Amino acid sequence: MPTEVRPIGDAELPAWFEAASSVFFMWPWGEPQATADFRKAHMDLDRTRAAFDGDRIVGTFRTFPTPLTVPGGGSLTASAVTAVTVRSTHRRRGILSAMQADDIARASAAGEAVGVLIASEWPIYGRYGYGPATWRGRWTLRTRAARFKADPIGTVEVVAAKRARELIPGIYERYRAGQPGEIGRTDFRWDVDLGIVQPPGRPKVNTIFAIHRAEDGTPDGYATYHGEEKWDDGIPDNVLILDELHGASEPAELALWQYLASIDLVATINADTRRAREPLMWHLEDARALRLRELGEFLWVRLFDVPAALTARGYERSDRLVIDVVDRLGGGNGPATGRFELDASPHGATCLPTRRDADVTLDVAALGAAYLGGTRLRDAVRAGGATESTTGALARADALLATADEPWCSTWF
Ligand SMILES: CC(C)(COP(=O)(O)OP(=O)(O)OC[C@H]1O[C@@H](n2cnc3c(N)ncnc32)[C@H](O)[C@@H]1OP(=O)(O)O)[C@@H](O)C(=O)NCCC(=O)NCCS
Repeated sequence: MPTEVRPIGDAELPAWFEAASSVFFMWPWGEPQATADFRKAHMDLDRTRAAFDGDRIVGTFRTFPTPLTVPGGGSLTASAVTAVTVRSTHRRRGILSAMQADDIARASAAGEAVGVLIASEWPIYGRYGYGPATWRGRWTLRTRAARFKADPIGTVEVVAAKRARELIPGIYERYRAGQPGEIGRTDFRWDVDLGIVQPPGRPKVNTIFAIHRAEDGTPDGYATYHGEEKWDDGIPDNVLILDELHGASEPAELALWQYLASIDLVATINADTRRAREPLMWHLEDARALRLRELGEFLWVRLFDVPAALTARGYERSDRLVIDVVDRLGGGNGPATGRFELDASPHGATCLPTRRDADVTLDVAALGAAYLGGTRLRDAVRAGGATESTTGALARADALLATADEPWCSTWF
C-alpha cells in the first residue's frame, strides 16, 4: 500500500509526468523534464497530487478549477479531475480509492460544490459518486448528399493561427455562456490548441481555422479542422476531420457546416465530439446524409455541496421536494450526505437541510448524472439508486431536473 497521498513539490513534477505517461503511454506527452518545464507555470501544485510507494510515485491525480455553465445560463466553479493514473504494477490495491478520498476531502474543505471528469472507462467513477451527465455523438456527414433547406447567412474567412488566437476565444466564450455543461478554457490552453505553442512530444497537425461573421461583420462562429487524403480510382474522396465547430447562434453554426460541406475534393466530414442531438440534421433536405456513428457519455458530474449545486442551476418547472441524498463515500458519510428541501421554480430555487420526511431518496451519483439536465433521473436510477417515499416523487424529481435543451461539453481535459 502507498504510504501517503499528498501534493507534489516543484522538483517532483518530472517524476509525476513520468508516472502518468507510463500509464497513458498512448498520450503524446514528451520527455518528462521537457513536459514539466513546459507545463509547470500553468499547474497548481497544491492540486497536483501523487500516491507514493516509499519515495516512488505510483499514482497521479490532478484537479483544476473551471467555470461550468449550468442550466438556466448560470455558472459555477467546478473542480475538474484529470491525469488519473495508477502504475500497472500497483493497480487494484486501492490507490485510486485513496486518491479519490483525498480529493473529495480537499474539495469539501475548500467549499467546492461540484466535481467533473471525463472517464477513460465507464465502470470506474460511479463508486465515487460521479454520474454520466452529458453525452457526445460521433457524426459523419456525406457532403455530396448534404443539401440544405436554407441559404447560409454571413461570410466565412480562413485565417492564420495568430488571427485565430485573437478571434476564437471570444467566440467560444459567447457560445459557452449559453451552453450548459460546457467548461472554460485558459489562455494557455488556447495557445496549445490553436498551435501558438507546441507541447513537447505532440505531433504537429496542419489545422485550418475558419471564422464566421454575421451580416454586420461580427465574428460569431468558428470551425477548426484538418484533412485526410483519400483517392480511389482517381476520384477524390477526402475526409475532413472536424476538430471543433462552435457558434454564438444556431445560424452561425449552420453557415459553418454549409461552408464545410461545400469544400471541393471532400466526400466525408467526421465530427467526433458533437452533441448527441445534432441540430444540423433538421436543416438538411435529406437528414440521412448525417449519420450518428457512436453515442457515448462525456462529462461525469459529482455533487460535493448539494444546496450550493442545486441553487446554482435554473429550473423550467415548479415543485417542492424533500430529497434524501445517499453518499456512500467514507462509510456512508460522504460530503453530499443529507436531507434537503428543494423549492424550485423558473424564478429561482432554494435548497436547505431539513428534518422533514423525505419524498425520495437518491444516490449522489444519480443526482450528479441528472444535474445538468442531460441524463434523465429516471434512467440513472433504473437499476437502483432511488427509493420513493411519496408516490410520484421520483417522476416529479425527474421532471424538475430535466431541461428542454441538451447540455453539452466539447472540451477534452
Ligand atoms: C483506473 C485506475 C486509475 C484504477 O486504479 P486502481 O488503483 O487500480 O483502483 P482501485 O484499486 O482503487 O480500485 C477501486 C475499485 O474500483 C475498481 N476498478 C478500478 N478500476 C477499474 C476499471 N478500470 N474497471 C472496473 N473496475 C475498476 C476496482 O476493482 C475496485 O473495486 P472494489 O472496491 O470493488 O474492489 C488504473 O487502473 C489506471 O491507471 N488505469 C489506466 C489509466 C486510466 O484509465 N485512468 C483513468 C483516467 S479517467
